[in-house]
Amino acid sequence: MDIEQQFFLGEVGLARFPEVLPQVKHPLIVTRGTVKERYLSSVVSAFKLQDYEVFSGFEPCPTLAQVQSCSLDVVSKCDALIAIGGGSAMDCAKAIKHEMLEHLKASGADAATLEQWGALPLVTVATTFGSGSEVTPFAVIYTEKGKISLGSPELTPNVCFSVAEFGLSVPQSQRAAAACDCLCQGIEAYWATQGNEYSGALALTCIKQCVNFMRAAVLEQDLGAQEVMAQASLLSGRAISISRTTAAHALSYYFTQYHGIAHGHAVALIMRSLFALNYAAIENGRMLLLTLGLHSSAEFKPWLEQLMRDLGLRSSFADFSLPESELDKAVASVNLQRLANNPAPLTAEQLRSLLC
Ligand SMILES: [Fe+2]
Repeated sequence: MDIEQQFFLGEVGLARFPEVLPQVKHPLIVTRGTVKERYLSSVVSAFKLQDYEVFSGFEPCPTLAQVQSCSLDVVSKCDALIAIGGGSAMDCAKAIKHEMLEHLKASGADAATLEQWGALPLVTVATTFGSGSEVTPFAVIYTEKGKISLGSPELTPNVCFSVAEFGLSVPQSQRAAAACDCLCQGIEAYWATQGNEYSGALALTCIKQCVNFMRAAVLEQDLGAQEVMAQASLLSGRAISISRTTAAHALSYYFTQYHGIAHGHAVALIMRSLFALNYAAIENGRMLLLTLGLHSSAEFKPWLEQLMRDLGLRSSFADFSLPESELDKAVASVNLQRLANNPAPLTAEQLRSLLC
């Protein structure tokens, strides 16, 4: 299935919805919290929606139980899914579509029905910029036993609205973590073994935009910088849709699920020491260093730590005082499939050494 994606930037872009998706008359909108309070009515108005359902029964890092609390009877009467927010709202909307498709398969639905529901429009309205979830076919859902990674063409958003104006009211800590996610995804897309020249080019542009604009976007609430980060997030999502992510992401989820460290923050903590290991394993690292504005791979760790502190984030695992046993469990939690995409083959001991 080859899904064409359309992108619209800024609040003004929301007005394009009726023209782009004229068939949508009764969507299910997935959103929660302050984003819902502040922006749901603006989006509904701009989209000219008269009739819609809202699902808000999820938290940041949505669980399978929360996803399954969304009635499939309600979903079955909707003609589109619209996620408004950051990665959690988008992951939840994708997981709801996945649940619907799995339910239909289990019920013995015919191929035409499955194709019809596979084509159910998935729309993202991004208010936080970095995860790239607004364009990727991936979602992460948590269970008591760990995370479930979803990824299939049917989960690719068809239309993405990146609204930088909405992002200005997102708390600084969230914007900082999301910006770190964006930067690290750019780096991981660049060196991932599944990457190609196209994803590499997207990744370098993403990295350059992050390096130049993430401080202003996070610290100064500068709308222009926020707009650049919205574009960087799209680039990171497009890049990792091709390349997938690597060891920094694979090792990060344990800290998000069990210790509440924001996703992008956890990824950056691991990236600090991972960079030098992977840099030694890739052939075209010089371009990566130049894009980061660095002269050697040894400069990366102190550079990233300073950047994290500048953004108001703790810059080492030692700052969290986690028990040694928890660090061991994090290593044991790693998804080996994702690790195969890492340019340097890593042992469990090397993974453990990243958690300092
Ligand atoms: Fe990420």
